[in-house]
Amino acid sequence: MQTGVATGTTAGDTAAPANTQTAQRIGVPREIFPGEKRVATVPEVVGKLIKLGFNVSVESGAGDAANISDDAYRAAGATVEPSAAALWSAADIVFKVRAPTLEEVALAHAGQALVSFIWPAQNPELLKALGEHRVTVLAIDALPRTLSRAQKMDALTSQAGVAGYRAVIEAANAFGRFFNGQITAAGKVAPAKVFIAGAGVAGLAAIGTAASLGAIVRANDTRAEVADQVVSLGGEFVKVDYEEEGGGGGGYAKVMSEGFQQAQRAMYAKQAKEVDIIITTALIPGKPAPKLITAEMVQSMKPGSVIVDMAAEQGGNCELTEPGLAVVKHGVTIVGYTDLVSRLSTQSSTLYANNLFRLSEELCKTKDGIINVNMEDDAIRGLTVTKDGAVTWPAPALKAAAAPAAAKPAAAPAAKKAHGHGAPSEPMAGNKLAIMFGVAAALFWFVGANAPEAFLAHFTVFVLACFVGYMVVWNVKPALHTPLMSVTNAISSIIAIGALVQIAPPLVFTADRPDDWIRWLAAAGIVLTSINMFGGFAVTQRMLAMFRK
Ligand code: NAI
Repeated sequence: MQTGVATGTTAGDTAAPANTQTAQRIGVPREIFPGEKRVATVPEVVGKLIKLGFNVSVESGAGDAANISDDAYRAAGATVEPSAAALWSAADIVFKVRAPTLEEVALAHAGQALVSFIWPAQNPELLKALGEHRVTVLAIDALPRTLSRAQKMDALTSQAGVAGYRAVIEAANAFGRFFNGQITAAGKVAPAKVFIAGAGVAGLAAIGTAASLGAIVRANDTRAEVADQVVSLGGEFVKVDYEEEGGGGGGYAKVMSEGFQQAQRAMYAKQAKEVDIIITTALIPGKPAPKLITAEMVQSMKPGSVIVDMAAEQGGNCELTEPGLAVVKHGVTIVGYTDLVSRLSTQSSTLYANNLFRLSEELCKTKDGIINVNMEDDAIRGLTVTKDGAVTWPAPALKAAAAPAAAKPAAAPAAKKAHGHGAPSEPMAGNKLAIMFGVAAALFWFVGANAPEAFLAHFTVFVLACFVGYMVVWNVKPALHTPLMSVTNAISSIIAIGALVQIAPPLVFTADRPDDWIRWLAAAGIVLTSINMFGGFAVTQRMLAMFRK
C-alpha cells in the first residue's frame, strides 16, 4: 500500500501529480452481498491493468462464483490476499461490483479510491460514511451515459444487456415449447410469440435474443424513438393507440398521462391473450416500476405461458410478481428473479471488468499506474461522488446535455472549417471558394478556346457528372457507401447496350455487317456486363439486408 494516494487534483486543477510515486495497487475483494456471483476483474483484464502500470491483488476466492480460480489470477500476474482485511489494506484503488457495506467501509483507509456501483441517490448514509473515511469514490452507475466517450465504461448498459439475454433464457427454461417454428415428421410446430414491454437496454437485448431463437417478437415502449431499434433487432413495434411522447430526458421515460395508460392497458390486454411469453423491463428512473400487467391479464394468458418481470426489484411491472421468486399463478409461470446478471456471472464479470479497465485508461492516461481523478473531465466528474472527504454528488449538469439544440448547429460550421484546410475564419473560407471557382472558370475557358468542338461537349458532360456524382455520394451516410458502390457498379452495366447494338443483326442486309470478331467481342461484353449487373444488384441487396438485421 502506498500512503497518500494521488487520486489527482482538486476541482479546477487539471495537472497530473508530480510523478515521484510508485505504481498503485488495484485490489479486488470477494463480493459479500448474498447471491452476488460477479467479480470486478477477470484474468484477461488483470494483464491489461498491469500493462497500464498498476499492480493487482485479488482476495482469495473472489472469482470462485464466476468460475475463476485464484490460480488463474496468479497466472495473469495478480497477487492473492488471504482475507478482505488484507486486501483492503494493501489496495490503493478498490474495484468492486456491489456498493460496499458499512463493515467494508470500515476496512477502507484515507486516500484510497473505490470504483463500484453505489446508487448515491438511494444510499446517502453510505456516501456520508465513505466521505468521512476520506475515500475517493467513483460510482460507476453515475456515469454520464449521454457522452459518447463514456459508452465503453457504461456498466449499466453492459450489465442490463446480460440481464435481457438471461431473461429470455429463463423464459425458455420455464416454457414448455420451442421458440422457433418447425416442420418435422412428428408434426408442425408454431413459433412462440414473445411480447417485450419496455425497449431500453435490457428490452432490446431480450428482443435480439428471442428473435435469434426464432420466436415472433413484438415490443412496446413509451418512447417512440426506439421503434426503429426494435425493428432492426428483428422485432415488431406495437404502438399504443394514443398520441403522447414518452421521453422524459436523457434517454429515459416519464410517467404517462391517465389517458395513455388506459389505451396502453387495452393494448397489453390484447397482447396477453395472443402471446406465449411476456418479458417486462419498463422502468422510470426514481419511480416505482409502472404496473403494466394486471392480474386479469395474467388470467387471460394461455396455460403454460411465462412472464419474466425484470423490474421485480423496483416493485415489478406485473401485479402478481414476487421479487426473487418464480411462481405459478393461473397456470402462468411468473419469474421475478432479481439476480439475472449474476446468473451469467462469467459473462457479466468479463464485461464489467472491461468497463473498469476502460475507466482505468481514462484515469491513468500517463500509463504509469497512478490515477488522476480529473474533475475537469466531464465523464470523471460525473462518476466522482466523494472526494477529499467531501460528498461531490450530484455532479453539475453536463453543458452539452443542458443545451443539446445549440450544440448541433455549432458543429456544422466547425466541420466546414475542417474541410477548408484550416481556414481561420468564415470570410476567409468564402474568399478561398471564390478563388477556386475563378481558377476553375479560367481553366474551362482555356479548354473551350483551344480544344476541338466535339471534345468540349464531352468535357462538359464529364465535369457535370463529376460534380453531380460528388454531391450524391457526399450526402449518403458513410456506412452506406459500400452498398452504394455496388449498386453504382451494377448500373454502370448500361454499357451492355453498346454490345447489344454491335451484336444485333442489321435490320436490312448491308455490306458493312460487323465482322465476326466484333460480334464475338460484343457477346463476351454482354456476358461480362450481365455478371456485373446482376451480381452488383445481388451484392447490394445482401449488404442492405445486413443493415436491416
Ligand atoms: P432503461 O431505463 O434503459 O429501460 C427501461 C425502458 O422502459 C425504457 O426504454 C422506457 O422508455 C421504458 N418504459 C418506461 N415506462 C414504460 C411504460 N409505461 N410502458 C412501456 N415502456 C416503458 O432500463 P434498462 O437498463 O433497460 O433496465 C430495464 C429494467 O430491467 C429495469 O427495471 C432494471 O432495473 C431491470 N434489470 C433487472 C435485472 C434483474 O436481475 N432482474 C438486471 C438488470 C436490469
